[in-house]
Amino acid sequence: MIQTAKKVESMFPNKNRLFAALREVLLVSLSVSIAWLLRFDFTLPNPQVLFAAMPILVLLRILGMARFNLFHGYWRYTGISDALDILKAVALGSVGFLVAERWILGEKRFPLSVYCIELILTLCMLVGVRVLARAVLQNAQSSTDRDNRKTVVVIGAGCAAAMLLRELPRSAYFPVALVDDDPAKAGVRLHGVPVAGTVQDLPHVVRAYRPHELMIAIPSASGEQMQRIIDICDHTRVRFRTVPSLGDLLNGAVTVDQLRDVNFEDLLGRDPVCLDVDSVRRRITGRVVMVTGAAGSIGSELCHQLLNYKPLKLICFDQGETPLFNLQNAQTGSTCSIVYCVADITDGTRLRDVIREHDVQVVLNAAAYKHVPLMEENLSEALKNNVFGLLDLMEVADHSGCEDFLLISSDKAVNPTSFMGCTKRIGELMVATRPSRMRCLSVRFGNVLGSQGSVIPLFQEQIKLKHTITVTHPDITRYFMTIPEAVSLVLQAFSIGGKRDILVLDMGKPVRILDLTKTLIRLSGLPQDQVKISFTGLRPVEKLFEDLFYAFERRSNTGAQKVFRTQGQTASWSELLQLLAELRAECAIGIPDRIRSKVKEIVPEYHWVPTEGEVHVPAPLLHDSQLFGDQVPLANANG
Ligand SMILES: NC(=O)c1ccc[n+]([C@@H]2O[C@H](COP(=O)([O-])OP(=O)(O)OC[C@H]3O[C@@H](n4cnc5c(N)ncnc54)[C@H](O)[C@@H]3O)[C@@H](O)[C@H]2O)c1
Repeated sequence: MIQTAKKVESMFPNKNRLFAALREVLLVSLSVSIAWLLRFDFTLPNPQVLFAAMPILVLLRILGMARFNLFHGYWRYTGISDALDILKAVALGSVGFLVAERWILGEKRFPLSVYCIELILTLCMLVGVRVLARAVLQNAQSSTDRDNRKTVVVIGAGCAAAMLLRELPRSAYFPVALVDDDPAKAGVRLHGVPVAGTVQDLPHVVRAYRPHELMIAIPSASGEQMQRIIDICDHTRVRFRTVPSLGDLLNGAVTVDQLRDVNFEDLLGRDPVCLDVDSVRRRITGRVVMVTGAAGSIGSELCHQLLNYKPLKLICFDQGETPLFNLQNAQTGSTCSIVYCVADITDGTRLRDVIREHDVQVVLNAAAYKHVPLMEENLSEALKNNVFGLLDLMEVADHSGCEDFLLISSDKAVNPTSFMGCTKRIGELMVATRPSRMRCLSVRFGNVLGSQGSVIPLFQEQIKLKHTITVTHPDITRYFMTIPEAVSLVLQAFSIGGKRDILVLDMGKPVRILDLTKTLIRLSGLPQDQVKISFTGLRPVEKLFEDLFYAFERRSNTGAQKVFRTQGQTASWSELLQLLAELRAECAIGIPDRIRSKVKEIVPEYHWVPTEGEVHVPAPLLHDSQLFGDQVPLANANG
């Protein structure tokens, strides 16, 4: 007796358990009484039989439930395993009760049907009451969570959204609804959150659920799809953020921490480029690669991507000490051998020392001056760096046994209106005509987003300060590409290009700068009317739109995605050398119109008209370059 008391006591070590047991006693008593009433058409014959059996049944049920540990009281977590345990406990109790009544006590008046009805009723009550409690508790919990956390509507109900929903319970956000354009997902629930409509329905969904924030969970969305989504988000006037694009997702996993504001790159298009990585690897892995202009926007991304292909050694060559220092700090952790050289491509001796000391095999040249208006005022410097510096670099590389040489060119080289564009075109012509043991090629492309001095950070700053945004012309357009995409395509072009090729990257559709500014204002969260846009008129050397090809260039596919080959006329190397020597002489004299005029002889497509009455006196050729050796005609070409 004492032992039984102890066992029962050990079953209820705390008040909660005791309370749970009392509740079960009540439920079992109720279900046996109802079973009795049902069996006898709601009359109560032989009540003494029922009341004598009831304590025995209750005791056996309690023992059965204790055996399966069903008095834990954590009903919020009731699941299938609890339901199975209840089934086993009830079955065990019923068998015990039948044996006790019929065979031990010999009580045959207790109807067999009541055993069965009671079993079913007890089972339903025990399970039902737990399910009901779980629903009520969860509902109460979610309203508390909802009150304490920021509510969000998730855009997209795919894998990324599912990952996000799994993360959200551990964050400060509470998902209230999803929207998705897939009709098959309409009305379904993802992790208990309903798909309340399509993306188009977002304004209604926002009105119905009043979320604090919208989360875009479609990492595979194209630029066009993102544009549509943010247009709709914008109308709701609710803050919106996005998960990164597929390419930027680490291990493909979506986390709440990765959510960020939508940026212009997201709207530009996020089609993943399918690279022929093996061909790039064949050109880079195990070789000594030098990047000039390594600390610049394109150079630094080149270095970053090259390291993935495991070169034997990477030489980061740049004249800018601080930018190179920053690059060095950013590249810690790489297992490749990296050398940082503060050096100038126009310093031939230093160039030769670096290339020979490290046995450089591949040169990727991104060192250049690029700012159009600035170069209009500094013609000789533009030529010194972008033309003669390049020529020095090619000479030294060739004579030092390099095997591959790449020039980063620009769409400004096509039908140039600017002097800087002309220098890039002369570079292309030199690469395409200079006889060389090296495989020399150029890659031409349009603007990259976020490069140093590009318009977007400038516009963003103006928007932040609510200054007037200055656009030169309402119809001006430019090509844009993200730096990582451009650089990966540059490496692709480098790997497949042949000797003297000029390869051009497919830049997609040109973007109207006015639209770009409006989008940037929208992404900043400011109402359009708070930031003014003014038009200042095209600058003298500015084009309304850029070309990627000359009219005379025949373009053909290379077999690589987004990389074209051009074939056009180029002058002979000897003619070009002659003109370069004359240009060098003009630089020494330093009369801008004469320099431009000579440049126009090399690049007849240069949109520059000489001032009237100008007298062209040929400058005497200079004997100033040791480096050009026998390739530069030092004798006066005219005589
Ligand atoms: N940024 C663009 O949108 C874009 C688009 C197409 C082509 N390009 C071309 O790519 C090249 C690089 O552009 P970027 O945007 O990276 O420019 P950037 O100014 O960011 O980088 C150029 C780097 O070259 C270095 N450099 C310049 N002259 C040098 C010299 N004589 N010796 C050593 N280092 C020198 C600079 O210090 C700088 O770090 C340019 O030729 C440009 O015309 C740029």
